[in-house]
Amino acid sequence: MLKELNETAAYINSKTENFNPQCGIILGTGLGGLVSEIDAKYILDYHDIPHFPVSTVEGHSGKLIFGFISGKKVVVMQGRFHYYEGYTMQQVVYPVRVMKLLGIEKLFLSNASGGVNPDFEIGDVMILNDHINLLPSNPLIGKNEKEFGPRFPDMSEPYDLSIIKSAHEIAKDLGYKVHEGVYVSVSGPCFETPAEYKYMRIIGGDAVGMSTVPEVIAARHMSIPCFAVSVITDIGVEGRIVEVTHEDVIAAASKAEVKMTAIFKALLAKQ
Ligand code: HPA
Repeated sequence: MLKELNETAAYINSKTENFNPQCGIILGTGLGGLVSEIDAKYILDYHDIPHFPVSTVEGHSGKLIFGFISGKKVVVMQGRFHYYEGYTMQQVVYPVRVMKLLGIEKLFLSNASGGVNPDFEIGDVMILNDHINLLPSNPLIGKNEKEFGPRFPDMSEPYDLSIIKSAHEIAKDLGYKVHEGVYVSVSGPCFETPAEYKYMRIIGGDAVGMSTVPEVIAARHMSIPCFAVSVITDIGVEGRIVEVTHEDVIAAASKAEVKMTAIFKALLAKQ
């Protein structure tokens, strides 16, 4: 795997004049607005990058965008890989490992999720302070690559406390109400039943979604500080559960995306 990763990184470096991004950014469903804030220098199609996972959805090849946001050198993944699409966990986190080889020092992520905390409403923003992995696997299963990190990595601070603190300050300055809470990751692709949402709440979750956790596990394995935000796109609280479609999720995410984009921009300026 290391050989392939190095080949991927060498290819990217050759196409981007060794751009050497400082921050990696992975954007969630309906949350691509940050892309228009990038002063883009290089854009690579996933399908042109050696060993990069190939998109299963026709006409939906993602892009790796290199450029500047708030004066910081960033690499942005426009389109992430989900376990429910049939990728292995190793494929889901492959881009995170590549970003590490390209030089990132911090990873910023966003996602759309269902709120199971009764205080939450559609369109709210939640900063992740922890997670519970209910995906049926873990990206670190298999041979451990010592060059990346230990066999049994510590997970006592999955989300960087100092970045969380500055995100709260930024949200306050911008006049945004933000929550903080625990994200539960599931495989999907079906949304939860009412009993499942109730279970997520009982075990300590505030929001539930189908991404983020594998990438954070791979990043923390490599000691990369992570910061992640969920946009609440539907509510999984008894008495408030209604039918939900992917279109509803996208519509709710794009409404809240302005807030998320503003927070990310200001946060990047501080890195
Ligand atoms: N459950 C799981 N994933 C999601 C949800 C949800 O309610 N909303 C957006 N992604």
